[in-house]
Amino acid sequence: MDFIQFIFLIFFYIPLYVAIDIDPSKTLVWGPGLNPQKVVMRARYFFLQLRDYQERNITKSPGKNIVFASIKGRNKNNQACRIWAQTLDCDDGSFIVRYRVYETCYNFEMSVRVKDLVLTSASKSEKGPIYEEECNCPHPSLESWMTNYECPESYSQIEEDLKIFPEVDFDKIRADLIKTYHKPHSYSFCHYVIKNNKIYRKCYGQHVGFNIFSDSILLSLSRKVHLPDSEFFMNLGDWPLVPKNNQLYPIFSWCGSDDTNDIVLPTYDLTESSLENMGRVMLDVLSVQGNIKTPWEKKIEKVFWRGRDSRRERLDLIDIARENPELFNVSITNFFFFKNEMEKYGPGERHISFFDFFKYKYQLNIDGTVAAYRQPYLLAGDSLVFKQTSKYYEFFYHHLIPHEHYVPVNHNLSDLVEKVKWAKANDDIARKIAKNGRELIRQVALPRDVLCYYVSLLKEWSQRMISDIKVLDGMEPVGQPNHVCDCHSDEVVKPSLSSKTEL
Ligand SMILES: *[C@@H]1O[C@H](CO)[C@@H](O)[C@H](O)[C@H]1NC(C)=O
Ligand SMILES: *[C@@H]1O[C@H](CO)[C@@H](O)[C@H](O)[C@H]1NC(C)=O
Ligand SMILES: *[C@@H]1O[C@H](CO)[C@@H](O)[C@H](O)[C@H]1NC(C)=O
Repeated sequence: MDFIQFIFLIFFYIPLYVAIDIDPSKTLVWGPGLNPQKVVMRARYFFLQLRDYQERNITKSPGKNIVFASIKGRNKNNQACRIWAQTLDCDDGSFIVRYRVYETCYNFEMSVRVKDLVLTSASKSEKGPIYEEECNCPHPSLESWMTNYECPESYSQIEEDLKIFPEVDFDKIRADLIKTYHKPHSYSFCHYVIKNNKIYRKCYGQHVGFNIFSDSILLSLSRKVHLPDSEFFMNLGDWPLVPKNNQLYPIFSWCGSDDTNDIVLPTYDLTESSLENMGRVMLDVLSVQGNIKTPWEKKIEKVFWRGRDSRRERLDLIDIARENPELFNVSITNFFFFKNEMEKYGPGERHISFFDFFKYKYQLNIDGTVAAYRQPYLLAGDSLVFKQTSKYYEFFYHHLIPHEHYVPVNHNLSDLVEKVKWAKANDDIARKIAKNGRELIRQVALPRDVLCYYVSLLKEWSQRMISDIKVLDGMEPVGQPNHVCDCHSDEVVKPSLSSKTEL
């Protein structure tokens, strides 16, 4: 190397590496995308956490060209398999690698390099088949599927929701339930039966278009695993439907509330983005982590909020912001419920990408008609989340601890200004809470967790059925999309050695 090159190296490269002391060999690696043969998703994903020589987590982006992922395979015609891979820099020393396979792959080779080191923990070579999402090759055993996906043993929310339904005899309640809720102007719902891993349904109400979300998750799951036979009712609206003091009917809903007994499922929004990330949706809990480019120190110290006028407190927020312009940048984007107050609370600001919300240090979650379904995406970002206290909840809210994962504010927002001032004065704590929020989402609300939650609920539910599960008059089959895929029969679980000896 000549002298000029040497000087160049000292001044340009060395500072880059010295500034952040990454020890590639200490990198932590985890996630379901490391087992592509066992775990099928539209986008498989895993995480990397960079660490230094003393095994301390790196907490900043190390800059470009540090992490490289190479993922390839062959299709059944022995051509290069069509795979789309992304490496998302989460700007906090961690990375997400995710990849979509468009066709069944064999001789799959994955390797991840950090600086000059190829990580053995993230290097895989698998014979295959590595199925694409559309493959209808259900795993025969629910239990071993759940083990493959590393689903939790149980969910306290599911236990809580189902404890009032120790057994369910639909022959006794089916007709009454339908009669009670068949009010086309008020409610929309579908009656589902899963029989021999096929989906059947009959829908009631005026707005049944949302069954696209329940259909697509059920179809996706039934392609992955043989679902237990069961029967259930799925509420297609936002509002939970079963008041606590009324006749107790079991109804699955996307949102729960303290004064209803609905059985809660992940929201249609989170369900869709979990199934369709690297597909039809741009915003999902993974992409939001990889698309924030404003580090904490550079964030604007204001509350940023955009949304519709779907609740009075959203208008109150505008009043509060006008009195405290140094703390807020908020705006109602659409008027529908309070059109007559548009003059006072408008005009709305122009549309801004959700990723740009995180140029601001503080985010706010105020209920819409029910829980605001943006909560998982807000928490997955790297700003501090303030949340209005509310009776509405989503399937994962019971994990949320106030002051640990978010800062609670009164339902009437009376302490909002005070809480924001507190956060400004306690920046280190605010930053820690923001980090904990993201960490929690990584533990409980990623695509894998959504799949696990549905399967776990269907499993628990099916065990409570005492009526015969049969396809009822007027139900139509919900068919799988046309897609050709070779399922391999060696997938079938073989009896283990110990059970063989019993034979
Ligand atoms: C380092 O990061 C990993 C992965 O996110 C996390 O589990 C661990 O708690 C972190 N360690 C510290 C000391 O923050
Ligand atoms: C509020 O935020 C928007 C979007 O980032 C920006 O264009 C606008 O200038 C901000 N308003 C104020 C008063 O800072
Ligand atoms: C707002 O809510 C808090 C806590 O619930 C309550 O103490 C306070 O009186 C309320 N303020 C107004 C103006 O209603």
